[in-house]
Amino acid sequence: MAARTALITGITGQDGSYLAEFLLGKGYRVAGIVRRLSSPNLTNLAGILDRVELFDGDLMDQSSVSRAVEATSPDEVYNLAAQSFVGASFTQPVLTGEITGLGTLRLLEAVRVSAPHARVYHASSSEMFGHVETEPQDESTPFHPRSPYGVAKVYAYWACINYREAYSLFVSNGILFNHESPRRGLEFVTRKITDGVARIATGTSKTLTLGNLEARRDWGYAPDYVDLMWRALQAKEPGDFVGATGESHTVREFVQEAFTAAGIARWEECLRTDPKFNRPSEVFNLRGNPAKAKRELGWEPTTRFRDLVRIMVTADLERHRKTAR
Ligand code: NAP
Ligand code: GDD
Repeated sequence: MAARTALITGITGQDGSYLAEFLLGKGYRVAGIVRRLSSPNLTNLAGILDRVELFDGDLMDQSSVSRAVEATSPDEVYNLAAQSFVGASFTQPVLTGEITGLGTLRLLEAVRVSAPHARVYHASSSEMFGHVETEPQDESTPFHPRSPYGVAKVYAYWACINYREAYSLFVSNGILFNHESPRRGLEFVTRKITDGVARIATGTSKTLTLGNLEARRDWGYAPDYVDLMWRALQAKEPGDFVGATGESHTVREFVQEAFTAAGIARWEECLRTDPKFNRPSEVFNLRGNPAKAKRELGWEPTTRFRDLVRIMVTADLERHRKTAR
């Protein structure tokens, strides 16, 4: 039997690179859409570059997205590309809407026209819940987004459901809570913390400066979550699925755990706060209920908070020690 083909937008990112590895492991032909940058950013794909097919394309540009869909004739499409940093969505709201919101619609249009048989996974986000009034959040919790990013994700979420209802496309939303790894971008809080702690441990920095230490997140491990993405497309029917650990911790707890993992006891002396890292409107508290994904997809996260922090601190310590040599 011919290998199944998966097309991934956002293949160079944290999730896209783990998903590409996961699908290659399952025998898929894997293709990805990569936008042009003045300096190519293929670090996350270093181990699999010779096994993936990359197509020039940008979610801002309908023709390039359509061309990639036509050229690959995919069985499965994973839409992971986005301007994904909530902080930047306040300073670049229109760009965020264009990529994260309308970009999804461009991809759906390309699939509708050229590959209506394909199954589509879309990367929705717990950031859509935003200002929550109930806990934990599940598939029936109302949305109250608190950032231009969250607003764009709500638009994309409904565009997916509309294409499911209007054109009978197989489109599923994964409403994923925060998931992290050593491939997390350095501006996100977890990676900023583990990189900062590793710098302090290796003597290249003395302090770590953050914003709101009391924000709570449901933090899981990214490789677990790409498994959910794949399972969502193997289901009988399309649907919307929360992916989460069901456990939440504050930023302060993450900081404490990271310093502990690096063997630094008097960590409070190294910690600073600066209001410049606060957001104009904050999401204070997120904790998900993944019961539906467990029941219908057989999905469960494998890595808990303390192990996640240790994995990330260990990777950053190793990286900083190598460059110090
Ligand atoms: P990420 O590391 O920031 O990756 C984003 C990807 O999108 C990168 O490959 C980036 O390419 C690509 N991209 C950005 N703008 C693009 C454009 N105009 N055209 C084509 N590609 C573009 O994000 P992630 O953490 O892997 O997350 C993957 C998806 O899940 C995103 O949609 C994110 O919003 C969503 N999500 C993430 C989480 C989480 O906790 N990680 C939770 C819920 C939902 P470059 O390499 O060129 O920048
Ligand atoms: N980035 C950052 N930097 N965040 C900080 C800092 C800091 O110095 N100090 C405190 N925080 C707080 C933020 O205010 C927020 O409440 C929390 O830490 C997490 O911030 P991020 O790591 O930037 O992630 P996020 O929760 O806003 O968004 C991520 O998760 C979403 C899912 O809920 C991103 O991956 C989104 O793309 C994703 O959809």
